[in-house]
Amino acid sequence: MAKFCFVIHPVSFEDVVRYEPGAAGKGRPIVAKILEWMPEYAAAHLTGIRTPDGRETEGWFVAAPLLPEQMLELPREEVYARILRAIDIGVELGAEIAGLGAFTGVVGDAGVTLAARAPIPVTTGNSLTIAAGVRSLFRGAAEMGIDASVATVAVVGATGSIGSACVELIAPHVRELIMVARNETRLRKAHAELARRLPCASSYTLDISAAVRRADLVLTATSSTSDVIEPEDLRTGAVVCELSLPHDVSRRVALERPDVLVIEGGNMRVPGDLRAQRVREPDRAFDLNLPRGTLLACMSETAVLALENRCESFTLGRGIDIAQVREIERMAANCGFGLADMRAFDTAITREQVAAVRAAAAQRRNLAS
Ligand SMILES: NC(=O)c1ccc[n+]([C@@H]2O[C@H](COP(=O)([O-])OP(=O)(O)OC[C@H]3O[C@@H](n4cnc5c(N)ncnc54)[C@H](OP(=O)(O)O)[C@@H]3O)[C@@H](O)[C@H]2O)c1
Repeated sequence: MAKFCFVIHPVSFEDVVRYEPGAAGKGRPIVAKILEWMPEYAAAHLTGIRTPDGRETEGWFVAAPLLPEQMLELPREEVYARILRAIDIGVELGAEIAGLGAFTGVVGDAGVTLAARAPIPVTTGNSLTIAAGVRSLFRGAAEMGIDASVATVAVVGATGSIGSACVELIAPHVRELIMVARNETRLRKAHAELARRLPCASSYTLDISAAVRRADLVLTATSSTSDVIEPEDLRTGAVVCELSLPHDVSRRVALERPDVLVIEGGNMRVPGDLRAQRVREPDRAFDLNLPRGTLLACMSETAVLALENRCESFTLGRGIDIAQVREIERMAANCGFGLADMRAFDTAITREQVAAVRAAAAQRRNLAS
């Protein structure tokens, strides 16, 4: 089967420390400067991804070590050059397709320019992320006993590559959908284009708090580098499905809203016996900050394309075709990938915790009535 590489980067200061513990005592500005100078490098070797019918692939995480805000603020050409150098390292290792992790797929035109310049096909991985995110949102609704057909859903980041396709996939199953972003012109245009096709009531707003206050279900897919979902805004018993990396749901939600179910929406269970070893110290495991045997959906899309020998630039740009989302979901299922168990704030969500969230929501409703 084909081999793949996936471009990663630290999505937070904590990520930098996890990869390079020596950064712990240093200030953020110094670390950011060091990252600016640090060359791209092969960070991890992934093996053991094996389909139930015996197909196997291997791949490499190659780091373009910039923080999200650096990806957005440094000169675009400089950032592109760094991502392309990371892909070149993957090619030298044997990769035949490259995935773009987190902000490497957000910067600029969401992979279009990079695909045109890279020596191998490139995918953002957003199609499988969309499929996983929508499934996770509805799984969360079912866990909380929410009837989606009468629910109001807010999609935050609704003009984005991931958010706009999520709007289309969610709409047939809910009563009302609210599209949220910051750029009014783009949002109005996106809503006008989508509203004609959406089989539910829909509206748009720049006011995140107002949208979230009305929503039973919230899906976030923003390129924000700070929190956008705050505990004060959430409805009793709401479900929040977070696709954004870095996280954009305030960590305060975990502490202050025991009645709200937050789930990371983009995690997939990987078939076989996935191992990730550091390239520089092959006897040491690479800490993905994910449960064993799981990968993010964007990483999974890249691995699935390799397993299917579909070395093509599968997902690029904004305005993703829903047929493509369905196709990669079918391919992923065929390869034995599935939604990972629920998780939020970097820890697993147990059945007991879901029961506790439902009980806290019921209690809050009783107090309010
Ligand atoms: N979990 C996974 O497996 C996975 C995979 C791929 C990507 N991701 C993450 O998913 C997120 C979205 O990616 P994308 O490719 O869809 O990005 P994108 O195409 O750039 O879209 C970002 C969206 O967020 C909105 N936005 C940005 N800042 C905002 C803010 N402060 N408040 C409200 N809306 C805001 C943007 O509109 P305005 O600019 O008008 O606000 C736009 O609608 C990123 O965080 C990315 O890292 C996760």
